Amino acid sequence: MTPIANDTLLRALLREPTAYTPLWLMRQAGRYLPEYNATRARAGSFLALATSPALATEVTLQPLDRYALDAAILFSDILTVPDAMGLGLRFVAGEGPRFEHPLRDEQQILALRAPDLDRLRYVFDAVAQIRRALLADGVQRVPLIGFSGSPWTLACYMIEGAGSDDWRQAKTLMYARPDLMHHLLRVNAEAVAAYLNAQIEAGAQAVMLFDSWGGALADRAFQEFSLQYSRQVLAALRREHAGRRVPSILFTKGGGPWLQAMSDCGADALGVDWTVDLGAARARVGDRVALQGNLDPSVLFAPPQAIEREARAVLDSFGPIEAGQAVGHVFNLGHGISQFTPVEHVQALVETVHSYSRALHRGSSQAGQ
Ligand code: CP3
Repeated sequence: MTPIANDTLLRALLREPTAYTPLWLMRQAGRYLPEYNATRARAGSFLALATSPALATEVTLQPLDRYALDAAILFSDILTVPDAMGLGLRFVAGEGPRFEHPLRDEQQILALRAPDLDRLRYVFDAVAQIRRALLADGVQRVPLIGFSGSPWTLACYMIEGAGSDDWRQAKTLMYARPDLMHHLLRVNAEAVAAYLNAQIEAGAQAVMLFDSWGGALADRAFQEFSLQYSRQVLAALRREHAGRRVPSILFTKGGGPWLQAMSDCGADALGVDWTVDLGAARARVGDRVALQGNLDPSVLFAPPQAIEREARAVLDSFGPIEAGQAVGHVFNLGHGISQFTPVEHVQALVETVHSYSRALHRGSSQAGQ
């Protein structure tokens, strides 16, 4: 078992006691970093960057070299899986992702199969290479998080062929032909479980399911078309690898109303966006899961003083920390960091979360003595 110098993230996800609240940021390797933009320019495109294990390793480590973050996250994208299923992923400058062959008729959907994992070999190679790059004198700096899109969120892009404000075509299929939608979601769940297990075998030490569009669903539709399939994925995941538990995180953007149902879906932690009060969420999920979140990424546009105030408010909202007791909070943003974030503002956030949460944990252990 490779020793990890800072395993605070894994401990918090498993609701074990920690000395402070660990943090990482969704999209921490990205366009707000000048060094990311330089590597991306060298690669020629986002996809060239994501499909090169050496370059993906380089950009994964960039935010860790700048900030005292408590985790690395694999640099890749959720849309690599449908790409490997033959949908043909492209990124159009200024427009975001597009599929050349979106799913538009019954035949296409019925012909869909979970991809040959060999087509995603570059992802597993990147995971293994990142793990090696995280080593310093035989000790790993921080854990590596792997990820996938949820079956529902992938289905949204596969049907629509691009991002959407209302997911009109995906929802039309869901209501008009629920049988076909369920078929697609079964294939996606099988693909995602195999993909995440291969990441775990390659060295991912925690895994996260991004259900970015679960919150676009109506009540009942969420349970039937999103949560049910995330649960299937989570049930099929390896729980342990190389002598360590591999915690899982389910993040449903806009999932606040369903936290209780989500808390018994098999994930160790739930990601929450900024519409949720962490203390209230904690009361609803009890000791079943840890929570990850939930600063509004727009806070990072404001000056450091405001960032400090808002970060403390998020830590305070989680509620009391008892001495030596399970806490189960991982600090994060409520969604990905914006490309317009000033780099020095991230520094202010990292310092505040570490120093203020350390004081909260210390204060609690003194109170408990
Ligand atoms: O968090 C990390 O640092 C890991 C890398 C990561 C990326 N995408 C890199 C990326 C992760 C975890 C993702 C997940 C992802 N991708 C999601 C789920 C999370 C969420 O945001 O809800 C979704 C929906 C996608 C699909 C996707 N990829 C979109 C809609 C876009 C374009 C919009 C945008 O932000 O540019 C991408 C491109 C993408 N994926 C970029 C990065 C760094 C920017 C591409 C570039 O460099 O031009």
